[in-house]
Amino acid sequence: MCGIIGIVGVEPVADRLIDSLKRLEYRGYDSAGVAAMVDGHVERRRAQGKIRALEAVLAQEPLAGTVGIGHTRWATHGAPAERNAHPHTAGRVTLVHNGIIENYAELREELRAEGRSFQSDTDTEVIAHLLDRTLETIPDPLKALKATLDRLTGAYALGILVQGEKDLVMGARRGSPLVVGHGRGEMFIGSDALAVGPFTNRIVYLDEGDFVAIDHQGARIFDAAGQPVTRPERMVSPAAALVEKGNYRHFMEKEIHDQPEACQHTLSAYIDPVTAAAKAPGVDFAKVDKLQIVACGTASYAGMIARYLFERLADLPCEVEIASEFRYRRPALAPGALALAVSQSGETADTLAALRWCKERGIQTAALVNNHESTMAREADVLFPTHAGPEIGVASTKAFTSQVAALTALAVAAARQRGRIDAAEEARLTTLLMEVPRLIAQSIGAEDEIKAIAADIARARDVLYLGRGAMYPLALEGALKLKEISYIHAEGYAAGELKHGPIALVDEATPIIVIAPSDELFEKTASNMSEVIARGGRIVMITDEAGARHAPEGVRVVLAPACDPVIAPLVFAAPIQLLAYYVAVQKGADVDQPRNLAKSVTVE
Ligand code: F6R
Repeated sequence: MCGIIGIVGVEPVADRLIDSLKRLEYRGYDSAGVAAMVDGHVERRRAQGKIRALEAVLAQEPLAGTVGIGHTRWATHGAPAERNAHPHTAGRVTLVHNGIIENYAELREELRAEGRSFQSDTDTEVIAHLLDRTLETIPDPLKALKATLDRLTGAYALGILVQGEKDLVMGARRGSPLVVGHGRGEMFIGSDALAVGPFTNRIVYLDEGDFVAIDHQGARIFDAAGQPVTRPERMVSPAAALVEKGNYRHFMEKEIHDQPEACQHTLSAYIDPVTAAAKAPGVDFAKVDKLQIVACGTASYAGMIARYLFERLADLPCEVEIASEFRYRRPALAPGALALAVSQSGETADTLAALRWCKERGIQTAALVNNHESTMAREADVLFPTHAGPEIGVASTKAFTSQVAALTALAVAAARQRGRIDAAEEARLTTLLMEVPRLIAQSIGAEDEIKAIAADIARARDVLYLGRGAMYPLALEGALKLKEISYIHAEGYAAGELKHGPIALVDEATPIIVIAPSDELFEKTASNMSEVIARGGRIVMITDEAGARHAPEGVRVVLAPACDPVIAPLVFAAPIQLLAYYVAVQKGADVDQPRNLAKSVTVE
């Protein structure tokens, strides 16, 4: 995910911007750039590729000034080329941006009609033009920024320089995080506490919709309505910066909101944005006869989702087994199999034992793990990293979606390697995947509706979750999330199984959560819902707009964005996580450390 740094300093800024950007390299990027205020004018340097390429540019053309902004970019709109690297300039405005502006196409048309021309393929350049145009009629930079932000739909964190404003960097956030750092006579903004870590540990986390002006006097923060606000300052050590709660009440809440970034960062390891190719570094799936996934709990549900994709897209037989069963079952695995352990911690005892069992028998092994220094990471033949960052909440959220994101990209790579899709289809699928961070951010937008529903669910003794296809493992995951943090008994079922037993549980006291995007299976799930309603059952359906239009009467709807079935498990995960979270909050449960549970289960 892209990184941002902004500095209103007293020392030369270029090296400091580079220092900060290097700390953000862990987020994944394909180009980088910096800009500084030099005698009231803004100058910028940009380069495709690694930060050392930008350093080489700076060595050729040094950048003076003590006030500046910097950015690492991971391409979403437009290829990773220098012209698309940030900062982007339009007239008096130079800015960097994380996130995706959804209405950029219509804004660009509007601005083009006024005679403005664009140098890049990015959505970001539209913001620069919009602000520059607004400054013509509203000369106050903060007022112009507010008017500009009001026109944007989508997600953003911004760092902005305005020509002529020698002592000013402005910032704004919605959907993407931004922090303010207080130094001694200097001020900073950054995409996270790590970005400003080299300069200060006095951090203020901006709230959703806030915008800010920093200068040598300090920070002026405004809420989305433009009212001046104060936000609490915290001391954050560089080591703790990765594991800060920010303004969230619980780590789980933060980690649910981290998912667009976590998935984007993870996907950057598996998708080449230039060629739109999916990568499976270290494995040739054309030589694999069978994929054997082993995992526990939430990670096993990520594996179950992956099975649908590996079989459907890559025509690769795939089995998923709970590691604690696999290791004692003495499975018959042929030498052509690939054993894939899926684990956040990389230390789960049963998963590790299953991995070792396969390795001892000469089966090729891979580990898809979030902890890259873990035992599984070290012992497996191949490491598939997820880049969710540290997950602190015991209930897994961002690690889960990062696993699903990586597995989906691997399934696309497998499909291509096995000749089941051509380059055009591969590009279609990877483009879909690159849309995932934006769509997850959109599905998190249903938070208020989910909070209201949670108040009702919190009174239930039992809850059923139903789904079909890849939504079935998501139903299992929804039930697991609810029971582990709210202590309400919950079960997940394949919707088609309802008649074969679970329907006996249906009554008005048992809420039923149905995960039903409007896909080829929707009609069948809708019939199951009618069966439930006929028996007095109360249904909450998580669906998209087309699904909502066909919702049986009496169903309460949570809206998620419409998307291709290949990415639907990623897009529909956040609503079920938020539901479990708000039910647990409603019940006053210890969300981050539920009773009896540990984050890393290193015993059988
Ligand atoms: C549930 C949860 C657990 C873990 C399981 C495996 O929210 O977190 O079910 O998924 O203990 O852990 P890892 O992924 O570390 O192997």
